[in-house]
Amino acid sequence: MKNSLLVTIIIYAILLIFTSGCNNSEMLPVKKGAQLYDNWPALKGKKFSQSHQSYPKEGNKKGTSTFKCQECHGWDYLGNKGMYAKGPHYTGIKGIYEMKSKSKKDLLDILKNSKTGHDFSKWLSSEDLENLIKFIQVGMMDVSLALDDNGQAKGSKLKGQLLIGKCLGCHGSSGKRYDLDRSKPGKQGLKDIAKANPQETLHKISWGHPQTGMPSGIADLGLSTANVIDILTHLMK
Ligand code: HEC
Ligand code: HEC
Repeated sequence: MKNSLLVTIIIYAILLIFTSGCNNSEMLPVKKGAQLYDNWPALKGKKFSQSHQSYPKEGNKKGTSTFKCQECHGWDYLGNKGMYAKGPHYTGIKGIYEMKSKSKKDLLDILKNSKTGHDFSKWLSSEDLENLIKFIQVGMMDVSLALDDNGQAKGSKLKGQLLIGKCLGCHGSSGKRYDLDRSKPGKQGLKDIAKANPQETLHKISWGHPQTGMPSGIADLGLSTANVIDILTHLMK
């Protein structure tokens, strides 16, 4: 019994060596779009003192953060039907997950709609908008594949353990080299952030963290969505 488990682990590790580690260059535009979704104002060097005109007055955030796509539509892309259905990020704004089947033209119209104030072409180039659209069409994960109704991770902790080495070279063997949430007391490492915000962590593992050189699991490291979910599961359990 023990031996067959060992053999399974060895075969899986060999498979991982062959399947990951090669990058997935057709996903690079999707990575760029995903990082714009995460924090385009930082990537474009923009700061805003007023809030975005579509951001509701009852919301808790002000200024630049109200211009970020994720602040209104969520890290799970589900808006008011997902993690932002309540709590400090609540705005009542809908998600965009269902927009993945829309055409490029329809999505471009939405991102350039000056009538609703949802015109981002003032700040983003046409290449940026195209990358955002590629992210919407192929990059958004169905978060229900990763998390059950109680918010518990659904992947394999064991497979995640085999992959976590890809992270610890930078994040340190305890995952705490960087403080990943300075708004909280004490150093917040990988495990802390994964438990506090699994949806954000899935997005970061998949697409990287803007302006830090953190690689995208999918575009740069050749991970699959299942691999990303396994890493999250390892961090949460
Ligand atoms: C200040 C909040 C806010 C920000 C920031 C924001 N949006 Fe929106 N977005 C909205 C609102 C409000 C709607 C309209 C929803 C509706 O029709 O009820 C919308 C609609 C959309 C839709 C169409 C959804 C649908 O079902 O019709 C897409 C796609 C979208 N946004 C993508 C983005 C992207 C990409 C970004 C970042 C570049 C972004 N949004 C930034 C508030 C925001
Ligand atoms: C090349 C180095 C590097 C690698 C490899 C790397 N990261 Fe990071 N990561 C960073 C840096 C740098 C930051 C930003 C730290 C800071 O805010 O000071 C970061 C930030 C993060 C964040 C926090 C983002 C936030 O919201 O603040 C998460 C979550 C994260 N990494 C997870 C991972 C996981 C999981 C892996 C493995 C799949 C990984 N990282 C691999 C360098 C790396």
